[in-house]
Amino acid sequence: MDKVEVKEREVLLLHPRNTVIVTCCTPEGRPNAITIAWFTPLSLKPPLVAISVAPRRYSHDLISKTGEFVINVPTMDMLRQVWICGVKSGREVDKIKECGFTLEPSLKVRPPSIKECVANLECKVVNKLTVGDHTLFIGEVVAAKVAKGVFDGVFDVVKVKHIFHIGYDKFTTTANEVKKAGL
Ligand SMILES: Cc1cc2nc3c(=O)[nH]c(=O)nc-3n(C[C@H](O)[C@H](O)[C@H](O)COP(=O)(O)O)c2cc1C
Repeated sequence: MDKVEVKEREVLLLHPRNTVIVTCCTPEGRPNAITIAWFTPLSLKPPLVAISVAPRRYSHDLISKTGEFVINVPTMDMLRQVWICGVKSGREVDKIKECGFTLEPSLKVRPPSIKECVANLECKVVNKLTVGDHTLFIGEVVAAKVAKGVFDGVFDVVKVKHIFHIGYDKFTTTANEVKKAGL
């Protein structure tokens, strides 16, 4: 394969990436939402995940202060909201209102969950690491919910159209096919 060298924004070579909306709140309980493409599962037992958040984000302040966040899994019909939460700051606008989200109380953490999202993973921060120009918040999943009929241990990707960030304002989703691997 012929290659060309990439000398800036090299990490975009790891996109498209599954993209989520993380909810957090002030110590007084005022909610905010941020779009996050840099997140990863880390451990099954205990269930650990990590989100990478730049320190200048308003959400960075909130998660640092409260130690809690919720990962909400959006679907392709929520692309407008994903974009709003990814380009506007909660310091200036009420993104929850602008997105028209229906918030519902989470089971075990203070930040609310987004009802329109297909899954909600409630997390408590157990560790925090400075990683270059971002902070990695490692969260233990203390409660999780998923819409009925779309998940039996794995997602039905024909029914659920996850959002993947390609880069800049470009997004994609999964094809209507599931291939099984085998030797
Ligand atoms: C598709 C997409 C993915 C993003 N992923 C991240 C991310 O993983 N980490 C991050 O710090 N910012 C990410 N951002 C940028 C934040 O979502 C954006 O700066 C947001 O306005 C911050 O909101 P806040 O100030 O209310 O926290 C992403 C933006 C978009 C559009």
